[in-house]
Amino acid sequence: MYKIIAILLLIVLIKDGYCGTNRTYLIKKDLISGLKGGEFTVYDTTGKNALFRMESKPGVLHNVRLFDGLTKKNPIALLKAKLSVVLYKGTIAILNKKLNQWQNGTINQNYKIVGNKFLLSYNNVDISMEGKAASLDTTFIDQSNQQVLAKFHKRVSSLFWRNKYDIQILSDKFPDQIYFLGVAARDHTNKKIHSG
Ligand SMILES: *[C@@H]1O[C@H](CO)[C@@H](O)[C@H](O)[C@H]1NC(C)=O
Ligand SMILES: *[C@@H]1O[C@H](CO)[C@@H](O)[C@H](O)[C@H]1NC(C)=O
Repeated sequence: MYKIIAILLLIVLIKDGYCGTNRTYLIKKDLISGLKGGEFTVYDTTGKNALFRMESKPGVLHNVRLFDGLTKKNPIALLKAKLSVVLYKGTIAILNKKLNQWQNGTINQNYKIVGNKFLLSYNNVDISMEGKAASLDTTFIDQSNQQVLAKFHKRVSSLFWRNKYDIQILSDKFPDQIYFLGVAARDHTNKKIHSG
């Protein structure tokens, strides 16, 4: 009898764990990035252990490479985007380590659309990345089923000091790296809008 209860409990826990993805990371922007785009360190939820690093290459493109840990060798995700007055138009690539294969997608924003809406496409799924105008919150939504995949919040202290983002990932459908690149894109276009 107790065995059955224990097994049922285990099933509930596993099922909960499976459906209830809830990972959080803290992303801190470097204070100084020179003439390059922003650079970031992705920490675990405590903000103490650095897990990933996003580096920018100087140039006309917004060109971000994401590294596992602080190694700066062999990027595991890439973002390359062109910016014009009205458009942010880019490609993303994320390395699937198991298959040792890149999976590519796109990320686009039209500044003329009110609010702040990007559209990503990855693995043939459209994902919106959207925040209300002037809001510090941005949400990723799977357009195939309207599921919230992830959210990030820009800390208020970012207004005075280095930008910090708390990111919460609520689904395992896509690699976490896609959301980190989303933060880099959002941060970059924000800067562009505010500096004219
Ligand atoms: C996810 O975890 C954070 C903190 O770890 C918590 O504040 C939040 O309520 C959790 N969200 C859900 C949907 O469980
Ligand atoms: C995907 O991106 C990788 C890394 O940038 C690149 O080497 C590869 O050619 C791209 N594949 C396709 C099909 O575009």
